[in-house]
Amino acid sequence: MEEIGEIKESTTSSFVFRTEKDVRKHDYVRVDDILAQIWEVKQMSNGTFAYANVIGSLSRRYMPRSPFKIGSKVYRADEKFAKKILGIGEDGIYVGVIKDSSVRVYLSPDILIQKHLCILAKSGSGKSYTMGVIAEEFIKRNIPIVIIDPHGEYVSLRRPNLDKNDMAAMRRFGIRPKGYTKNVYEFAPVCSKNREAIPLYLDETNLSFQDLLNLLPNATSQQKGVLYEAYKKATEKKIYLLKDILEGIRDAKSNAKWNLIPQIEQIISMNLFSVNYTPLGEIVRKGRCSIINLRGVPPYIQEILVAILLTKIFEERKNGAIPPVLIVIEEAHRYAPERGQGKSFAGDIIRTIASEGRKFGMGLAILSQRAARVDKNVLSQCNTHIILKTTNPNDLKAIVASVEGLDAKAADEIQMLPVGIAIVAGLPLAAPIFVEIRPRETLHGGKLV
Ligand SMILES: Nc1ncnc2c1ncn2[C@@H]1O[C@H](COP(=O)(O)OP(=O)(O)OP(=O)(O)O)[C@@H](O)[C@H]1O
Ligand SMILES: [Mg+2]
Repeated sequence: MEEIGEIKESTTSSFVFRTEKDVRKHDYVRVDDILAQIWEVKQMSNGTFAYANVIGSLSRRYMPRSPFKIGSKVYRADEKFAKKILGIGEDGIYVGVIKDSSVRVYLSPDILIQKHLCILAKSGSGKSYTMGVIAEEFIKRNIPIVIIDPHGEYVSLRRPNLDKNDMAAMRRFGIRPKGYTKNVYEFAPVCSKNREAIPLYLDETNLSFQDLLNLLPNATSQQKGVLYEAYKKATEKKIYLLKDILEGIRDAKSNAKWNLIPQIEQIISMNLFSVNYTPLGEIVRKGRCSIINLRGVPPYIQEILVAILLTKIFEERKNGAIPPVLIVIEEAHRYAPERGQGKSFAGDIIRTIASEGRKFGMGLAILSQRAARVDKNVLSQCNTHIILKTTNPNDLKAIVASVEGLDAKAADEIQMLPVGIAIVAGLPLAAPIFVEIRPRETLHGGKLV
């Protein structure tokens, strides 16, 4: 172990050491069996001083209760030791390397599915790129993943990454260009601009009353009454469809029906539902990455579709009819907005999955460029966080509030992160780490959009 200095000042959680070696901010150092990280280096007339914060220790479960002895030797922490204390495993979702090192950072796919992930950063700082890296890793492990993709940028997971800059960096990360043609399935509702995708139809048979209410979230109590009567009448049939509900509403005596009829007619005309619906087993399937391409779909219809699709996946997952799955929600502020920041049909089910999904092996990956506008209840359920460059003060505040282990100092760092560098925090890590995200194997679609 390389000795790099001696402690000159200390508390129970931090120390200052004098050094004549080349030490830098964010370097990991070791005192006895304690790992610490340098957060500042100061040059003074009487020498160079480094300021370090304790991260954890090998033997002790608790933080030290008395300060370090003045004069204690400080060593450079070796990789194995740092990895052990930081909680970086030897295998899993390979997201990149610890900045300025070759130490690979792995996240646990089980933790991501059971405890949810969020990727937060301002526009253009690499959220979708990073999510693409994670999607590649899920595909390799044959774990199902479903991506709610408002811009249609994930279909490029089929094609290899031949970007010159990325290719130059690939060797260092041990990555090669690769396309996942066989694994990536693209679905789109017929109302989308996308004709190459597999048409996505929701099951129209025997919708429950709750399903109907989800379709008409603004219904008044009188309208709900009419709807319920129509629903009851329709259920007398073994198989009933939306047109049966519509018929029941038309037959109603109440005047409340007049506003309801055009709404149901509009829903029918959207072609979202069919008796020949897309089986969920086609969307959530081992070895499959399903892209729900919503490009060109009006926002109102996107929300209905996401709400119903996620509700069905959640139900089927509860019944064990489909395998554990990671659901990726791009632009999460649109589908699960914070109260007072607009409404979305999909908000309720996303909140439910965030709080109960872990019991059933249904994980969320929440992406947003407006952390402050995403439902706090959803964000607070995410236990792994990938933070990229963010500058908006409200978003920074929301990030620091929802990510354990981040403080005001971290907020300064987040504002200055270069593209490609992330702060990864939360499970399974003992402390936030700076990670250089690995290059994509597949083409990044964000460029094409
Ligand atoms: N890890 C990385 N390595 C190399 N280039 C990257 C990396 N991350 C991002 N980039 C570059 O930055 C660009 C923007 O990234 P990306 O599309 O992921 O942004 P975003 O955060 O999803 O933005 P938006 O909120 O607008 O969707 C990419 O096109 C890519 O060129
Ligand atoms: Mg993006």
